[in-house]
Amino acid sequence: MHSNDWYKDAVFYELNVRAFCDSNGDGIGDLPGVAARLDYLKELGVDALWLLPITESPRRDDGYDVSDYTRIYPPYGSLSDFRTLVAEAHRRGLKIVVELIPNHTSDQHPWFQASRDPGHPEHARFRDYYVWRDDDAGYKDARIIFVDTEKSNWTYDPLRKAYYWHRFFYHQPDLNYDNPEVQRAMLRVVQFWLDQGADGIRVDAPPYLYEREGTACENLPETHAYLKRLRAFVDAYAPGTMLLSEANQWPEDVRPYFGDGDEMHMNFHFPLMPRIFMALAKADRAPIEAVLARTPDLPPQCQWGTFLRCHDELTLEMVTPEDRQFMWDFYAPEPRMRLNLGIRRRLAPLLGNHLARLQAANSILLTLIGSPFIYYGDEIGMGDNIWLDDRNGVRTPMQWEPGPNAGFSAAPAEALYAPVIEAEPFGPARVNVQAQAADPASLLNWTRALLRLRRQHLAFGRGTLRLLGAAHPALLAYLREYEGETLLLVHNLSAGRQTFTLDLSACAGRPLADLLHPEAPAQPAPAAWTFDLEGYGFGWFKVGDDTIPS
Ligand code: GLC
Ligand code: CA
Repeated sequence: MHSNDWYKDAVFYELNVRAFCDSNGDGIGDLPGVAARLDYLKELGVDALWLLPITESPRRDDGYDVSDYTRIYPPYGSLSDFRTLVAEAHRRGLKIVVELIPNHTSDQHPWFQASRDPGHPEHARFRDYYVWRDDDAGYKDARIIFVDTEKSNWTYDPLRKAYYWHRFFYHQPDLNYDNPEVQRAMLRVVQFWLDQGADGIRVDAPPYLYEREGTACENLPETHAYLKRLRAFVDAYAPGTMLLSEANQWPEDVRPYFGDGDEMHMNFHFPLMPRIFMALAKADRAPIEAVLARTPDLPPQCQWGTFLRCHDELTLEMVTPEDRQFMWDFYAPEPRMRLNLGIRRRLAPLLGNHLARLQAANSILLTLIGSPFIYYGDEIGMGDNIWLDDRNGVRTPMQWEPGPNAGFSAAPAEALYAPVIEAEPFGPARVNVQAQAADPASLLNWTRALLRLRRQHLAFGRGTLRLLGAAHPALLAYLREYEGETLLLVHNLSAGRQTFTLDLSACAGRPLADLLHPEAPAQPAPAAWTFDLEGYGFGWFKVGDDTIPS
């Protein structure tokens, strides 16, 4: 693996510390619990762990409401536990990515407490740390993000007798980036986490740092200038640290977050994600084709982050209203499955718990552009609980074993931070790591095998992508090429067995080696290749360099 741009070849694993493994039996997962499961993650074949927020917080937004940027949330453990986790991860060649939540704090953060209270001894110093106005008339062109819970981006504070600005929950006041003190304070937070050994930082919600009247208050030039300053700081202080940005925007608006290679190393490709689901629902590659055509090239050091699911609702912000309705109708038929502009379900239930469909979705994830992110539990096909509040239904305890609490915790079941999924077919009796590790045909072992295969070919992370047209809309076929290596990927997006014909004139005569069936002898690629794929079947091929004489 190349060292300074390791993230280009990496597979990431996103995990919620609270949900992963409880080491001390208090019902809440913790850092020593994660450390105890590192061998599992290494064996799974991921390269980097992205930890959801781990710092002090009243937890009204699962830690995205920060009340102390440098203190570990006590139920998770201590800073020394964090450093141990980093050391243990590094010993296994795993990287650790932590969260930076620069846009807002909790209203319980001491900065906000001082800012809102004119009688507070530190009021003068923190008065302008947040965005205050006498009325709620400003920035009318900014949309509301959490439409199910918030009516306005302004909330009145009776102590300060003024309104404060917030792009997310009302209890998450936005920091004021026009204040140079705030700019510096956030860089000190970054410095702190680099000192603790973090290899990368996921920058939460970067589009909203600055506000300007008459704009949507997203993606402003001032915001990009600050992110470039953050990058310059990181490059100087801890070269090689990876910055990953969560700009949920259209591809052309995301592109500036990479700058000229001087802003973020990575950005999630939000618009691609729902289109993978649409393509599978419609048995038609067109949605994927369209979004890839709209996807700009990146500067050399940069990389897309791709994903199927994450800790949030499956967001449908970056689709047309018609496509959103289609996605809701198809994937969230019950109202309770919907949240904000999205769907609060996990991967396996979304795809009908259908193994071949799950494998096809994952195969697309692992072979298309960018570095893939796997959401904890999706590698064993965990279920969700749509009756839990907000997005908590996709953040339930990891299912390790068939026994009590699914092996997540020794606490009484009532003491768990959230109930284990019990509704069949997703209960721990069927869905758990232990059983799947022992079953050669399980989703877990399949995932392990594909991750092993993926890491043998740099073209997956680094190669160019060339889509291949075909008469049949259910055939998704593409070439990935990097430094002389050519890979051919084919997917049947439909439920039924199909015969496809693919124009392979670009590779005609070169040997096609089947990477998924290495025992099969390589065949010369015909100019027009006719082949069968089972419903949701797929193939990974390496196209040899030499021409086989026919
Ligand atoms: C990001 C996080 C989400 C959180 C929000 C507000 O979108 O992914 O979980 O609620 O920021 O901090
Ligand atoms: Ca615990």
